[in-house]
Amino acid sequence: MTQVAATAIADQDIAKLEAELVNQSPQKILERALSLFDNIAISFSGAEDVVLIDMAHRINPNIKVFSLDTGRLHAETYQFIEKVRKHYGIAIEIMYPDAAAVEALVTEKGLFSFYEDGHNECCGIRKVAPLRRKLATVDAWVTGQRKDQNPSTRASVPVIQADTTFAAGDRQLIKFNPLANWSSADVWMYIRSYEVPYNPLHERGFVSIGCEPCTRPVLPNQHEREGRWWWEDAGKKECGLHAINTKQEG
Ligand code: ADX
Ligand code: SF4
Repeated sequence: MTQVAATAIADQDIAKLEAELVNQSPQKILERALSLFDNIAISFSGAEDVVLIDMAHRINPNIKVFSLDTGRLHAETYQFIEKVRKHYGIAIEIMYPDAAAVEALVTEKGLFSFYEDGHNECCGIRKVAPLRRKLATVDAWVTGQRKDQNPSTRASVPVIQADTTFAAGDRQLIKFNPLANWSSADVWMYIRSYEVPYNPLHERGFVSIGCEPCTRPVLPNQHEREGRWWWEDAGKKECGLHAINTKQEG
């Protein structure tokens, strides 16, 4: 397969790729993504999307991985990120927020402003800005988003899309969501079958894991998203990393 990194893919070709890949396994989608792009990175959250790393590592052990350290993750998540780094023998690039922006926010509004005026401002500084910085350096990125994670915002997540939210200037940015059509049960079946390491918080009732103050365990049969930003409406539960899901476009 010829590498097309840094060469823009026309909209109709993205649609063709989507049609070709939509019913394929995540492994096939990743294989295609990695054959199309050299400068591609997996966005690893320290939760169950480690299956992406496991799958990609079997295809290419030199896969690039990054994680956004908001400064507010659980201790278990930090330990887990380190465990994954050692387990696969890979470098995990950790992106940090701008120190001055965090200092200004917490000095003005305290450490828990998100409970009072919503998570957007804090997520904007701690997650979205560092992600934007990282995505300006790649041609494509891979996320662990699934449709079943949030019926209000993720029901239409495609396996490939042009990321118009984070494309810098005229540069095209492609976003792959290889797990879009997998359920949480599929992910956990893979984790158990291949003995993939997982965040120990999952053993304590946590399903969807984000920052410590904004994540809580869920009860049996409660939707996983109810454990994230539980004081806000379901439709608002996107922190900006995947803002494209709540836009009309793409
Ligand atoms: S979030 O937008 O609500 O925080 P979620 O936790 O559902 O996202 O994760 C969806 C995907 O976003 C993950 O599979 C991962 O690809 C990416 N992601 C979320 N949080 C991070 C993070 N801290 N670092 C890197 N990628 C992340
Ligand atoms: Fe801040 Fe919570 Fe967003 Fe983390 S999830 S960046 S703590 S608002």
